[in-house]
Amino acid sequence: MRWSVDQVNPAATDRIMEIGCGGGTAAALVCARLVSGSLVAIDRSATAVKKTLTRNEECVAAGRLTVIQAPFTAAGVGDLGPFDKIFSINVNLFWTSPAVEELALLRRLLVPGGTMFACWGRGPTPGRSDEIARRTASRFAESGFETTVTSADGLQCVAASPEP
Ligand SMILES: C[S@@+](CC[C@H](N)C(=O)[O-])C[C@H]1O[C@@H](n2cnc3c(N)ncnc32)[C@H](O)[C@@H]1O
Repeated sequence: MRWSVDQVNPAATDRIMEIGCGGGTAAALVCARLVSGSLVAIDRSATAVKKTLTRNEECVAAGRLTVIQAPFTAAGVGDLGPFDKIFSINVNLFWTSPAVEELALLRRLLVPGGTMFACWGRGPTPGRSDEIARRTASRFAESGFETTVTSADGLQCVAASPEP
């Protein structure tokens, strides 16, 4: 989680979205770095939203974190945004399907020059996250995103910015 959040490198003033916040661990790490910035964490699971809210009560109370139960779809995100950075950790988006709607949504949600970070930890199968990152990077590149893959000891992060 720490490595992935380091890849996102949240600045104190960044407006950030997390897709698939799960237990809220990464949200806590991001919140700790925000001053006037903000984080919107979405997850389609009610259990995940509850866990993220519980783990991050102080950040929510301070107005830096909003947690929303919704899928990452146009209807799910509504009029949220724009964001300087969007990230996901261990979420099966962008490589299990063509993700046409999701990629279009990223373009709409990111400010010009903004970046999506899709990160994965070490899976149970050696090399699996490398393969996932490769496939994700290809999908972003084919859709007109400038794409960089960073790897460290089995951890993977694909950074993708829409080409102007
Ligand atoms: C494997 S868990 C990872 C959770 C957390 N990021 C972590 O690394 O511990 C994937 C999470 O993403 C959420 N998720 C998957 N696809 C989603 C989608 N399309 N929209 C919103 N949430 C999604 C799931 O509900 C789940 O909480």
